[in-house]
Amino acid sequence: MSKIILTGDRPTGKLHIGHYVGSLRRRVELQNSGEFDKIFIMIADAQALTDNADNPEKIRQNVIEVALDYLAAGLDPEKCNIFIQSAIPELTELTFYYMNLVTVSRLQRNPTVKSEIQARNFEANIPVGFFCYPISQAADITLFKATTVPVGEDQKPMLEQTNEIVRRFNNTYGEILVEPKILLPDNAACLRLPGTDGKAKMSKSLGNCIYLSDSPKELKVKVNSMYTDPEHIHVEQPGHLEGNTVFTYLDAFCIDDDFGKFLPEYKNLQELKDHYTRGGLGDGTCKKFLLNILNDRLEPMRQRRKQYEQDIPGVYDILRKGTEEARKVAAKTIEEVRHAMRIDYFDDHELISSQSEYFKNKK
Ligand code: TRP
Repeated sequence: MSKIILTGDRPTGKLHIGHYVGSLRRRVELQNSGEFDKIFIMIADAQALTDNADNPEKIRQNVIEVALDYLAAGLDPEKCNIFIQSAIPELTELTFYYMNLVTVSRLQRNPTVKSEIQARNFEANIPVGFFCYPISQAADITLFKATTVPVGEDQKPMLEQTNEIVRRFNNTYGEILVEPKILLPDNAACLRLPGTDGKAKMSKSLGNCIYLSDSPKELKVKVNSMYTDPEHIHVEQPGHLEGNTVFTYLDAFCIDDDFGKFLPEYKNLQELKDHYTRGGLGDGTCKKFLLNILNDRLEPMRQRRKQYEQDIPGVYDILRKGTEEARKVAAKTIEEVRHAMRIDYFDDHELISSQSEYFKNKK
């Protein structure tokens, strides 16, 4: 069986380093591994509109931001199809058929939807489209017969729901769809990178994000103001690692080589942590080290971004080509789905001839 990746992001803002360690870095590795037959990366503008109906301009402007972030991070249009969700009408069609296979109460139990409804204060005013987006996400994944979906931990309930839909569909109509596997980050710090203020999640509205496109100057201000251990006031005091954002970020980003390059007094992160918890190591040193590491990772992205920013029509061409490729695959699956669901009337000669016979001979 071929190995196919599908994943994507809502274009509601620029991508930040939480996106990077949660999924984007992995995608680039998978792309370069050569192990996959096809890689689809989707800019989920239609999904973004499910809770931004009043703000289409925001989504429109962020499609290009996300595309630039993808290319900057190292996604290579020669190796993967980057495409725009709303330009694939087959997705809407498949979503509509899947709606018959999912109950309202099952959607209500989806933990991600539940917490998002709370976070958005929707209460009794939940847009139907938003409520149903897990169904549309199942269509995103299955239309391309994805086997592998690299995403962050918050997407786990979506994958579970997708697999339920696949099983229900295949049982009812025949084995057409493929059950995908989720691919989560293997490092706990990457599962959900906290904001620079130590809050559980990076979020634009909290203003605690480090963006992939941040300049060295912006990055420095953000790292220097990061949340550490509030009880670690004097250098000689023992510091705590738990909930210490600087160390969480180091867990997510630091490799042993970084010590040789930026902090040769230590061999590895464990030595640094030991010194910090023993006392005698200041936050300033740790922040400076982190800043060096982040700059090291972000600098090549800044350079690539700058180049692509000089050729925006070229970026749209990449998206258009990716979308055309995606549509070819989409059309093929939809044909199979329509056939399995017995709604391929015009293509089914057998149907027309057998009904002709029936009605001609009817008494
Ligand atoms: N829900 C994802 C997010 O919030 C975006 C997304 C839409 C997606 N469709 C998908 C991710 C399909 C993986 C597979 O970022």
